[in-house]
Amino acid sequence: MPQPTIEWIGACDGFVRIIDQTRLPNEYVTLEITSPVEMFAAIKRLSIRGAPAIGIAGAYGLVLAVGKTCLDSEEALFVVLEEAADYLKSSRPTAVNLFWAIDRAMSAARTTGGEGVDAVRSALFEEARAIHEEDMAVCRKIGQVGQQIMPDPARVLTHCNAGALATADYGTALAVIYRANELGKRVSVMADETRPLLQGSRLTAWELMNAGIDVKVICDNTAAAVLKAGMVDLVITGADRIAANGDAANKVGTLGVAVLAHEFGVPFYVAAPVSTFDMSISEGDLIPIEERPPEEVTEGFSVRTAPAGVGVFCPAFDVTPARYISAIITERGLISRPDVASVAQVVDG
Ligand code: MRU
Repeated sequence: MPQPTIEWIGACDGFVRIIDQTRLPNEYVTLEITSPVEMFAAIKRLSIRGAPAIGIAGAYGLVLAVGKTCLDSEEALFVVLEEAADYLKSSRPTAVNLFWAIDRAMSAARTTGGEGVDAVRSALFEEARAIHEEDMAVCRKIGQVGQQIMPDPARVLTHCNAGALATADYGTALAVIYRANELGKRVSVMADETRPLLQGSRLTAWELMNAGIDVKVICDNTAAAVLKAGMVDLVITGADRIAANGDAANKVGTLGVAVLAHEFGVPFYVAAPVSTFDMSISEGDLIPIEERPPEEVTEGFSVRTAPAGVGVFCPAFDVTPARYISAIITERGLISRPDVASVAQVVDG
């Protein structure tokens, strides 16, 4: 990557710099985010996206909420923080990393109770930095753990973008590909275009090409044909929230790919950090699924492709039942044939 997907600039009264992913691949521009309102908008319009990346963004959003305030009472500072936490959490409902990171940063802030506003500010800042740095290490570990299931050569199909643009380092699903490439394995990738916002063709293809990895974009509706034709050795996707039984929510269209992979005998893997598991949710049907504005389907990228006023149903994610998942690749190891017991063993440790 020419520069990080997200970075904090300065001390705890600094700001966040992100790559504006809505402009890729045509323009490479960065945005400076200086307030929770700007962070909320950046997450909502997908300038920053991908479960781990929006977690980091959420935690930094809290730091922005109090970085420049001159409040001198802890009580008043926590009122601002609680409000900012609820507000940032309401930007997108599905990826649990957003909620996990905000709750984690808030807990760190609370542990300083009584030590004054500066102590709260620095605890929050340190925790947001830690969440960011840990994600870098987690990506590397997922890449390494994933080598257990990566043959050489490997022809991989992926959906959406679970790469450097979605995390602090080189991704989850794409980490497995990047690591295989580093190890000299012969890897090629088919990237589903990923309607309607084209994260596969705009983002995955862009970052894999930058890294010199052989990638072909396919229309989403080509996945069935390539899986049936034996042109794919394995499928790897990311996830936005994984229930306690291993059911995994990811970008809409993932479920179809998983069912097709099952039908044609191709292994289907999900790569995700432990922070993407939501052990409070017993099964995938209970995962909240974001609905996006109809215009993303009818006039995406400012081109009208459906009659004005037509009805639209536009869920951003779907849920793949655990029975279609060969294994979940986490930083703590592989969860083969995920179910309640195997998930708990790795996640609760
Ligand atoms: O709507 P998006 O682009 O945020 O959706 C992202 C995905 O579905 C990713 O696959 C998921 O967040 C995993 S990112 C490592």
